[in-house]
Formats: sequence, structure tokens, C-alpha cells
Amino acid sequence: MDKGQIVAGYLAPHPPHLVYGENPPQNEARSQGGWEQLRWAYERARASLEQQKPDVLLVHSPHWITQQGHHFLGVPHLSGKSVDPIFPNLFRYDFELEVDMELAEACCDEAAGMGLTTKMMRNPNFRVDYGTITTLHMIRPQWDIPVVGISANNSPYYLTTEEGLEEMDLLGKATRKAIEATGRRAVLLASNTLCHLHFSEEPVPPEDMAQEHPHDYEGYLWDMRMIDLLRQGKTGEVFELLPQFIDEAFAEVKSGAFTWMFSAMEYPELPGELHGYGTVIGTGNAVMEWDLIKAGLARAA
Ligand SMILES: [Fe+2]
Repeated sequence: MDKGQIVAGYLAPHPPHLVYGENPPQNEARSQGGWEQLRWAYERARASLEQQKPDVLLVHSPHWITQQGHHFLGVPHLSGKSVDPIFPNLFRYDFELEVDMELAEACCDEAAGMGLTTKMMRNPNFRVDYGTITTLHMIRPQWDIPVVGISANNSPYYLTTEEGLEEMDLLGKATRKAIEATGRRAVLLASNTLCHLHFSEEPVPPEDMAQEHPHDYEGYLWDMRMIDLLRQGKTGEVFELLPQFIDEAFAEVKSGAFTWMFSAMEYPELPGELHGYGTVIGTGNAVMEWDLIKAGLARAA
């Protein structure tokens, strides 16, 4: 067996509005579209993913919150209805997915070996959260690639941001070791929005794009600053600024997926490809890609 490798990482945010705007058969709610800039950004990301030919998609979601430790989906086949508790009017989605059990167990074991509290989620009736589902649907609506789902332990919220993100760094290192040991071609999905202050009232209809714009100028400026650095491959500078970005823009990267993904990729100073940026109820969302094959850091299939 060849040593496994991470072939790409994506910043792949999860506003349920994007699924709502797509009108897939799995979602109950119907729309007249909306948020096209982001949905078309995901179309470009899908084309890249197709080229990368991964065996597995790993996703870390802020909306599967586990107070004690880092949990991993641990049931081979999961199905059910996932509902967004904040936007049940937009997202009531019939999901069905296959878990890469061998890799999930390996991630869980490696992370435990590095001193993190971990657990396999064995409940066969578990309702997978809307963050995981939205990111996976938007990047690969065919649902034909097995997944590893990772919870967001809330350590950055009850420890300091820095201490919490240290855990996510360890989780990333463990994920990389597990991918290498199991021989997988893996794609990592960081399911995070950037600036995250949002409006508290919804327009009628919700997809009225005349009402969609950044919540505040400061958050927008922060997003552009971070995206600009990421597009230049200035990863070190991004991570130096990350705690300040989190504090000043209420950035959702606090929940850890972004740090987990970059740690697993060993923080490459590699220009990210911006597929698109847009706001959703005022929050800033970027779809970005780091293709490690194109960069010569991973083998083509
Ligand atoms: Fe979120």
C-alpha cells in the first residue's frame, strides 16, 4: 500500500442558504435561487475536486458541537433528516452518507495517542448536523465519496482562543498521520465562514438579494485582508493574525476547522485559489482551494 496523502484542502463554508438556493431534491424548502456568487464558486471547486480523485472527504464542522473531546462519525451508513435549528424554514434535508470507518477509527486513535480526548460516535440514528451536510452537498452533490465527519470540540470557547486552537493543531497532525497510515487520497474540508456578525431579521423572500450585503464594513475589510494574504500564500502571517481576526470580526474560524486543515497540510506557504466570495445574512464566506497536486506536494491519481 502506498503511503496516503492529502491531495487538497478547501475552505468550504456551510450557510444552509446555499443548499436552499440550489433546490436539490433532498431539501424540502423551495427557492427562486439566490447567493449565486457563492454557489457558482462551489461549482468551480467541484470541477477541481473531480480532477483530484479523492478516496475520502474529511469535514470538520462547527455545528456538531461536543463539549467533551473530539468525536468522529462512527457508523458505516447514516441517513435521516437534518434540520437547521436556526433556519428550519430553509434547510430540512434528507441525507444519506457512507463513512470511511477505517480512516475515522485511525484519526480517533492517532488523536488520542497525541493526548486529545476522542470518541467514536456509534449512535445509528444520529442526525448529522447541517454544517457537515451543507459543506458536503455543495462540494460533491453526488454523495458518492465516503466521508469522515469530525466534531467541533468547544475548547477555543472555554479556554483561550490560542489554547483551543493548539488542540486543533494537534487534531490536524493526528489526521495527517491517520491518512498516511491508511493509504488514502484525502481531501480536507474546513467548514468555516469568515467574519460572522449577521443580521437578525430575514427578508421576504429569504433569497431577496437586494437585501444581502456585508453586515459591517470592519468585518468586510478583515475578510479581504485575510483572503489577500491567503491568495499570496502568506500562511504564517495569516496564523499570526488569526486570534485578532477572531476577536474583531467574530470569525467562525475560531471553532477550529481552518486550523485543523492547515495543520494537517503542514501550513504550506502556498497561494490559495479563491473560487468566490459572498455574504449570507451579512456573514462573509469564501470558497478557496489549496491543490497540493498542482503544487507538487502530492501525487496525481
Ligand atoms: Fe456556522
